[in-house]
Amino acid sequence: MKEQNDSDLKALEYAKRLQDYIEPPDPQGADKAFNDAQLNTLAMSITRVIGNNVKGTILDIGCGNGIVLNKVAGITEFKDKSGWVYLGVGTKDDRRATIEFAQDLDEKGLFDYESRFEFRLIDKFYKEWFSNITQPLLVIIRNVFHELDIYDTATLIYTLTSNLTDKDTLFIQDLELFPELERDNACWLPDMFKGLLESCGFSLRLTPCETGSGNKYFNVEAERDISKSLSYEEIIENVIKKRQEQFS
Ligand SMILES: C[S@@+](CC[C@H](N)C(=O)[O-])C[C@H]1O[C@@H](n2cnc3c(N)ncnc32)[C@H](O)[C@@H]1O
Repeated sequence: MKEQNDSDLKALEYAKRLQDYIEPPDPQGADKAFNDAQLNTLAMSITRVIGNNVKGTILDIGCGNGIVLNKVAGITEFKDKSGWVYLGVGTKDDRRATIEFAQDLDEKGLFDYESRFEFRLIDKFYKEWFSNITQPLLVIIRNVFHELDIYDTATLIYTLTSNLTDKDTLFIQDLELFPELERDNACWLPDMFKGLLESCGFSLRLTPCETGSGNKYFNVEAERDISKSLSYEEIIENVIKKRQEQFS
């Protein structure tokens, strides 16, 4: 009887894993911003960067449903410094969700949508950098790199190395291990990811972390080393090399 129960439980677990694998995961809801243990580990660093500058732009690349916007809008330094604006980059679905969420925050008196919110679609973001953007930038890329293939990874890194200055700051948070299987996606091992960014011209600090429930992820704080400038082809080569190293 016990053996039968164990084998039923195992079958259920495998069925769930397979279901997770088949269905692409939805981005987290924006309302998770205050109880998400991973996102909370970025809050103090975001506060520090905003605190050091009277104005600037939070550039949230791959903004999903607006969870980073919700976190940022709740940070006192951001609320108090009207010179700081939020700029989300994402798909049409991301745009709908994030604009709706920003307007909702505005209605509640928690955010100034008219003067502090901007959005750009991913395709346009890669075609043309911003001509008029409040400096410095605090770029936040959360849970995006594990969704990108070799070429998209290289395109994102190349866009950053071609446009960021040494006054800008880059925060990346990503998974080391999937809590649920994700078809077509692949996590980065922290050391491989660190090596990749260094080889592409970033100085960085990386912290591997784990939540109470055992989810493994890492935080990166980086600046561009402007003495290094790689071509797109060189960055593709570096990404391929690190991915091969990771999976060999
Ligand atoms: C798992 S969601 C993460 C959303 C949000 N950053 C969060 O922390 O919940 C991945 C996001 O990456 C975006 N994305 C997909 N391909 C991208 C690319 N090539 N460049 C930038 N973002 C991309 C998706 O639109 C989506 O918003």
